[in-house]
Amino acid sequence: MFCGYVKEFYSKNIDRKFKQSNLKVRYGNKEEIKMFESGNKDKKIYILGSSGYLGGLCLEYMKSRGYTVFHERIELSDFSALTTMFNKIKPDVVINCAGAKAYPTVDWCEDHKEETALVNVVGAINAMTAALSCGAYPIQICSGCIYQGGKRKVFTEEDKPNFYGSFYSRMRVVMQDALKELPVLQARIRMPLSSIPHKRNFINKIAGYNRVISIPNSVTYLDDLWPALEVLMEKKPTGILNLTNDGYIDNGHVLEAYKKIIDPTHTYEIISLLALQGPGGITKAKRSNCVLSNVKAKELGIIMPALNKKRLEEILRKYKENLNNKVL
Ligand SMILES: NC(=O)c1ccc[n+]([C@@H]2O[C@H](COP(=O)([O-])OP(=O)(O)OC[C@H]3O[C@@H](n4cnc5c(N)ncnc54)[C@H](OP(=O)(O)O)[C@@H]3O)[C@@H](O)[C@H]2O)c1
Repeated sequence: MFCGYVKEFYSKNIDRKFKQSNLKVRYGNKEEIKMFESGNKDKKIYILGSSGYLGGLCLEYMKSRGYTVFHERIELSDFSALTTMFNKIKPDVVINCAGAKAYPTVDWCEDHKEETALVNVVGAINAMTAALSCGAYPIQICSGCIYQGGKRKVFTEEDKPNFYGSFYSRMRVVMQDALKELPVLQARIRMPLSSIPHKRNFINKIAGYNRVISIPNSVTYLDDLWPALEVLMEKKPTGILNLTNDGYIDNGHVLEAYKKIIDPTHTYEIISLLALQGPGGITKAKRSNCVLSNVKAKELGIIMPALNKKRLEEILRKYKENLNNKVL
């Protein structure tokens, strides 16, 4: 059902938006614009995890851009099923958006360790090595939730992880360490949000809590992520890459915009990190809070502008429209 609504939304809004010239503004110099605009639309893309939040949006975006997209579910623990399918389809690109459920929060992983390891570590390695074995460019969607720091420390792709406070994050570190030995692109995102209401959208999540922390964090605006992946499919870099918007936001910024635009009666309380995750706190595992550098992405021609007050409010206005149009 989600995919149906998303499809409708993309055909009405996003597709039109991306076909317009605003991408020319986003994607810097003329050479890069030319390359992006002339991207090979005959490319075959295999998207794993297409029934999920990120995979569903990725699927609709790539289809709207004219690529040939395959997305039948393949069990990630079954390496032979992955290679059989990839050898049959011969995709140019494999994007792994599949991941362990981790819902309603990453605390789920604390109670489902085997499943988390099987999908987020074994499954990711299977998917990426199967993609490599059939000559596809492998992209693993992963997470920057492996750092802890305030706004003064901006983490680059070269920084060693320093956050091990949750099973989810520890498995992300294991996966990252394994995949960095291979010619794979590890696209690190954080707290994804979009103007499409969805239970996994950061806006939904944060508005769903009445007690929140207010700490600077990087975010990934999904309308900026998909075009970025398109650029990367052309340039084919490998290694770790942060795909987060400029600067950072804190929950208070999002909730103020939410109150202003969506629901003036919304109430919330700002609490300390200790109250959230300390002894007797709300969460089972600790949470990563960090700001990532996107300098490396910029060097590749990717521009993901900051979600400043003006842009956040624009996103929330679109979010409200989508709520009213029941694009859920
Ligand atoms: N959402 C976030 O806040 C966020 C932030 C940073 C990074 N990420 C990462 O991005 C990825 C996708 O996140 P999401 O929010 O889109 O998750 P999601 O909505 O839960 O989607 C997960 C997808 O993975 C598939 N999947 C799960 N186990 C599988 C298995 N064993 N074999 C094949 N497919 C399997 C699911 O399909 P079935 O339901 O059919 O199993 C579903 O399509 C995850 O790796 C996540 O860690 C997410």
